[in-house]
Amino acid sequence: MIHNIVQAAKTHKNYQWAWQNYEHIVQQIIESQTGKNVMEIGGGRFPTFDQAYVEKQGLKYTSNDISERELSLAPHWVQRAHFDVQTADESAIEPFCNQYDVCFSKMVMEHVESYDRAYKNIFRILRPGGMSIAFHPVLYTLPFLVNLAIPDSLSSKLLASVFPNRTDDGIPKFEAYYSGCRISQSVRDNIQSHGFSAVWQVPFYGHNYYSKFPIIRNIHSTVNDMIQDANISVLASFCYTIVKK
Ligand SMILES: C[S@@+](CC[C@H](N)C(=O)[O-])C[C@H]1O[C@@H](n2cnc3c(N)ncnc32)[C@H](O)[C@@H]1O
Repeated sequence: MIHNIVQAAKTHKNYQWAWQNYEHIVQQIIESQTGKNVMEIGGGRFPTFDQAYVEKQGLKYTSNDISERELSLAPHWVQRAHFDVQTADESAIEPFCNQYDVCFSKMVMEHVESYDRAYKNIFRILRPGGMSIAFHPVLYTLPFLVNLAIPDSLSSKLLASVFPNRTDDGIPKFEAYYSGCRISQSVRDNIQSHGFSAVWQVPFYGHNYYSKFPIIRNIHSTVNDMIQDANISVLASFCYTIVKK
């Protein structure tokens, strides 16, 4: 089942498909499991699924976050789990061990300081046979390299100047580390070394960060088509990283 989901996703390649279909892919993974205990990592105030889907599927749906404030703004019908997914403190993970059939995240792994510690903890949280999927950016894309290179205080100010609600009091900008946000055999091997039976990475090409700059946008589009046609996954812009315990 999971092999079919991965192979089907790999045929699409374009980042727009990845964004439009992520919820559906997570739903397919959830519905492929017999257990219904689901944790969204870094779900914060905006858990991905709505109450109607959760009730229809009979899920026990928990939103995790490192930020108490984000969790306090989550809807009332979601269970909350306040911890840092990459914590080195084993006792913080203990209450959640061997309980979850599916863990998933969307645009969280780039904010995690150590993907190695995060996957160690995800392995502990999952039940045997459980699955996890993360949708994350891939570092070797110019806007993400720039985001990593410039100090967070500067990038936060730039973001707030374009989007006035992106402040610490509104919707904050979360610091980005891009740990493990690469597509490579060594990342897959590191993840697998925690005990997972399988690890897949599905690359997606392109992004819309140049949409307001027509000349750069057109050059980027041409170069991106070449990268996508040649399947140079190291230069993809986004990725689904999927693991099975
Ligand atoms: C960019 S937001 C994405 C939120 C949501 N997944 C979405 O797509 O709208 C990143 C979220 O990850 C949370 N986060 C960052 N580092 C984390 C960590 N180490 N453990 C758990 N959550 C974390 C942040 O507090 C924030 O809520």
